[in-house]
Amino acid sequence: MNPEADSHFQKDIEYHETIGDEYHKVVVDPRSYLNEMLFAPIAKIVKAGDSMLDLGCGTGHMMLRFGRQFRSVTGVDHSPKMIESARVNCGNAGVNAHFQHQNIFDFLAGNNQQFDLVSCVGCLHHLIPETIPEVMEGIARALNSGGLAIMAEPIMVDADDEPAEIARWNQKAMGRLPQYTTAIDEPDEAPIDADLLLGAISAAGLQIEKQSRSWEILPQNMPPSILDQLVIRFFHWRHGSNGIVMAIAASKP
Ligand SMILES: C[S@@+](CC[C@H](N)C(=O)[O-])C[C@H]1O[C@@H](n2cnc3c(N)ncnc32)[C@H](O)[C@@H]1O
Repeated sequence: MNPEADSHFQKDIEYHETIGDEYHKVVVDPRSYLNEMLFAPIAKIVKAGDSMLDLGCGTGHMMLRFGRQFRSVTGVDHSPKMIESARVNCGNAGVNAHFQHQNIFDFLAGNNQQFDLVSCVGCLHHLIPETIPEVMEGIARALNSGGLAIMAEPIMVDADDEPAEIARWNQKAMGRLPQYTTAIDEPDEAPIDADLLLGAISAAGLQIEKQSRSWEILPQNMPPSILDQLVIRFFHWRHGSNGIVMAIAASKP
């Protein structure tokens, strides 16, 4: 591995080791109501199958979302702490999960298995952008023909594009939601150029089936109150279609 990539990954691992115990409570749970809407069009085309692979599985968000539809689910992550949380979460949810503590590049390079569903969500924007095409080729190789890949990432939008009413609402929510208890520098992550992502998916021979967008819209309470749910639904309906998060489902012909 070249030194730039090595220090990039080391920083990312250190970050996730520090926040791993709290990530689900701070990041996944507050977004779960909104994510139901973001992933709804994609969930309709996920067919139950034998095997699922989740790259950059973190604390198990995608394994929990779709894993029960598969006989066996493999989660890959380079942070042992994130895997530890995912193992507990999947165990509690009855997902038949196995984990590989590995960098996704090493996993994909050595992998011979083919899966019915491969997800890679919230992970690609942690990589050096030039390496995204290589990951998409690995994902395409790891899919059965007829299988489905699911990606969801923040994409580049103009800073002014976030609707002011969402920004104001989120600011209030941030003051009320759980935060990390340890201060640590963010890893090197950045929204992805949508054209780079979509181009890499097509260049890997995958066919885009569904696309969905959303803004980050947080609840003010956990669990979200009825008012939170109504506001999240309303903002998503009004502004979601040009939001910062892009979810994509693509099939292998
Ligand atoms: C923002 S979290 C997303 C986790 C989960 N997929 C989700 O949807 O909540 C990114 C995860 O990707 C992992 N990750 C980042 N780069 C990686 C790499 N090169 N190899 C393996 N895991 C990686 C991190 O450790 C972290 O758990």
